[in-house]
This record gives sequence, C-alpha cells and structure tokens, in this order.
Amino acid sequence: MTVVARRSHELKRLEGKVALVTGAGRRKGLGEAICQRLASEGAKVVVTDLGVPAADLPADRIGTRSELDEVVAQIRATGGEASACLLDVRNELQVQEAVAFAKSTYGGLDILVNNAGVGYLMAPFTEMPLERWDLVLGVNLTGAFLCSKHAAQAMIEQGRGGRIINIASVAAKSGSMYLSAYAASKHGMIGFTRSAALELGLHKITVNAICPNHVTTGLGSVQNALRAEQRGQTIDEYLTEMRSRIPLGRVGLAEDTAKACAFLCSAEADYITAEAMNVSGGQEVH
Ligand SMILES: NC(=O)c1ccc[n+]([C@@H]2O[C@H](COP(=O)([O-])OP(=O)(O)OC[C@H]3O[C@@H](n4cnc5c(N)ncnc54)[C@H](O)[C@@H]3O)[C@@H](O)[C@H]2O)c1
Repeated sequence: MTVVARRSHELKRLEGKVALVTGAGRRKGLGEAICQRLASEGAKVVVTDLGVPAADLPADRIGTRSELDEVVAQIRATGGEASACLLDVRNELQVQEAVAFAKSTYGGLDILVNNAGVGYLMAPFTEMPLERWDLVLGVNLTGAFLCSKHAAQAMIEQGRGGRIINIASVAAKSGSMYLSAYAASKHGMIGFTRSAALELGLHKITVNAICPNHVTTGLGSVQNALRAEQRGQTIDEYLTEMRSRIPLGRVGLAEDTAKACAFLCSAEADYITAEAMNVSGGQEVH
C-alpha cells in the first residue's frame, strides 16, 4: 500500500471549531502565526488585538487596526475563515463583548489562546516604577484570567468541552534578568493554568501553557537589542551566542509555537491538561 505523506498543515483537525486569539493583530507576531495555523486546520478564528492606541502602552509596540485587518485578510486570502475584533484584555467589558462576538459571528467558542503580552519593558527591578509592574502583570496575567473566565463560561454553557492555551515563555520557568515583572507574570500564568485545569476538567475543557524560547518578533527584537547592548555585543553576536545554548541549534520560529498550539487544540491532545509545554529546541528542560 502506498502511504501518501501529508504535511501537518494540510491536516484539518479543527474543522467546526471556533477560536479566539488575543494580541494577534501584529504582523510577524506569534499571534498571527497561531491564527493562520488554526485557520489552516479548519477553525474559524476571531483575531483580536488593541487596534487603537492605549494611553499607557508605546504606540509602536501594539498591533494597529490596519495590521489587524491585514492578518484577517491574509487568512481569508489563503482560504481560511477569520474576523477581526478589537480587544484590550484588561477590560472585562470588552472581553465579554469579544466572547459574544465569537458566539454571534460563528455560533460558539471552542478555543481561547491567551497570547497578548508585554515583554519589552526591561529594567532592574530596583528601578522599576510600580505602574510598569502593574502594566505587565495586568496584560500578561490578569488579561489571561479575564479572557479565560468569560471564555470558560461560554464553553461550559455550550457543553461541548473546549481548549484554553496560555502562551507563557521559558521565562515562566526560570528567572530572567531585567524582566522580573515579565517572568513573574509568566510564572503566574503556569499557576493559573494548573488551577484552571483542575476546575474545568469535569467540563472537558483542557487548559495548557506553551513556553517558547526566543522568537524574533516585534517583542523579541526589542529584547535582542537591549540584551546585546547590555553585553556590549552586536545583535548578530548576541544571537550567535544564544543559538549555541540551544540543543537544536536555532532560535524559535512563530510557526513552532503555532504548531504546538494546534496540536493542543486538536482531539489528539484530548487527555493532556495542566501542562506547561516547552517549545524551546531543548533550551528549557523542566
Ligand atoms: N517573541 C518571543 O521571543 C516570545 C517568547 C516567549 C513568549 N512570548 C510570548 O508570546 C506572546 C506574543 O508575543 P510576540 O513576540 O508575538 O509579541 P508582539 O509584541 O508581536 O505581540 C504582542 C501583542 O500583544 C498585544 N497587546 C499588548 N497589550 C495588549 C492588551 N492590553 N490587550 C490586547 N492585546 C495587547 C500587542 O498589541 C501585540 O499585538 C506574548 O505573550 C509573549 O510574552 C514571546
């Protein structure tokens, strides 16, 4: 018998599913790759992001409305189904509206990916203003809580199970110099993942975290520039040194996280919950 190899993105493991992804309206971000992958596997995707300037976030670090529309257009151009929705994950009313949008547009909600994150505010914690700490914890951790709360309510009401995926980081498992608020928020995300998984198991809703290592997105390139400067290196020198510490010999790609996300959303991961899965080429091992 001839075995015809199918590339995994040709799999349609998510047909009939509706997904909502936060912080996904930035080109070349992890969120964009996750939306593209989920849509390519058959999910209908609500692509959400701030889309408008936020008073307390640098304008050049957030997804704009036109970028959000481009992400949606790109998915549609490749035959996928997607819609845009503005969402500041810190705003509970907007979170409720985004969940309602998924239900009214696509008839339900099966998958939530908490991807929105702030990871570019680097400083020694002894010099960190309280507002900056609150900002990072507010987006990365409280935002994931609010979105999970309302998505889980919708999933429980539907009664057909569900998936919540929290995009954490290798900084969820080890300390990260000058990124104390970020590391604290990501460590917190794992604690939240494990606790929510305990509460939602009876409803057949799984909750897992993914812990990527460095990916050169908008956020990742700011981290590279600052780390290289601190070490007196060029960015290329810094990246070469980073690669030497990764057993698989390269930094992460947005697609690596997107593939792991699609797997955890699929029926193949039915019995996997409360995990914090490294997608780090072997860089993080616990
Ligand atoms: N790039 C990396 O190296 C890396 C590694 C590990 C984990 N991560 C995580 O992956 C996720 C995506 O990061 P990325 O590298 O694609 O960064 P990115 O900066 O490209 O994307 C982050 C997105 O979050 C959005 N966002 C910020 N505040 C928001 C808010 N209040 N409400 C809604 N959206 C908001 C931004 O608009 C942006 O689109 C983040 O949670 C990040 O911590 C990134």
